[in-house]
Amino acid sequence: MSVRPLRPADVPALAPALAALPLMARYRRSADAIAADLAAALARGDGLLAWEAGGEARGLAWFLREGTLGVGGYLRLIALAEGAQGGGAGAALLAAFEAEVAKASRHAFLLVSDFNEAAQRFYERHGYARVGALPGFVLPEVAELVYWRRLR
Ligand SMILES: CC(C)(COP(=O)(O)OP(=O)(O)OC[C@H]1O[C@@H](n2cnc3c(N)ncnc32)[C@H](O)[C@@H]1OP(=O)(O)O)[C@@H](O)C(=O)NCCC(=O)NCCS
Repeated sequence: MSVRPLRPADVPALAPALAALPLMARYRRSADAIAADLAAALARGDGLLAWEAGGEARGLAWFLREGTLGVGGYLRLIALAEGAQGGGAGAALLAAFEAEVAKASRHAFLLVSDFNEAAQRFYERHGYARVGALPGFVLPEVAELVYWRRLR
């Protein structure tokens, strides 16, 4: 089990595993849409790390290394397939994201849905502070909570 760069060959199996998550259903992200997003992100050179277990990518961290509010990296998405949750993979991906961002930026930012209390607890356990909210930013009935951690 390890964190490594996401590869194009990971996408066909990983995209449907992520699309099966309740979070993705709520945001209406189908397997095809996730696969297209990841292909475009790989082509752009976005930060993309995979969690590999049993020879397969079972989760990812997708991020921008710099530029957020002029000073920080931005975690666009961290997500593990259902069976890969609750075992420390998220912490490993978050630490790898932070190490990569810290090379270019002093701050890390991310957004969490107001209903995603498990993810809010996860980020708070890992040193992130809730600093704001963007009401209706993606879905009209959901606020995206802004989380921030100073990296150095
Ligand atoms: C949020 C996420 C990245 C955290 O990574 P993780 O490796 O699961 O983190 P942890 O090991 O710290 O466990 C997270 C929670 O799962 C619980 N958990 C324990 N065993 C579990 C299992 N077998 N299956 C699922 N969850 C389990 C943990 O107790 C913890 O819940 P708590 O905060 O109520 O104590 C991951 O759970 C995930 O991908 N969730 C779905 C997508 C998502 O919400 N992404 C965040 C978008 S902002």
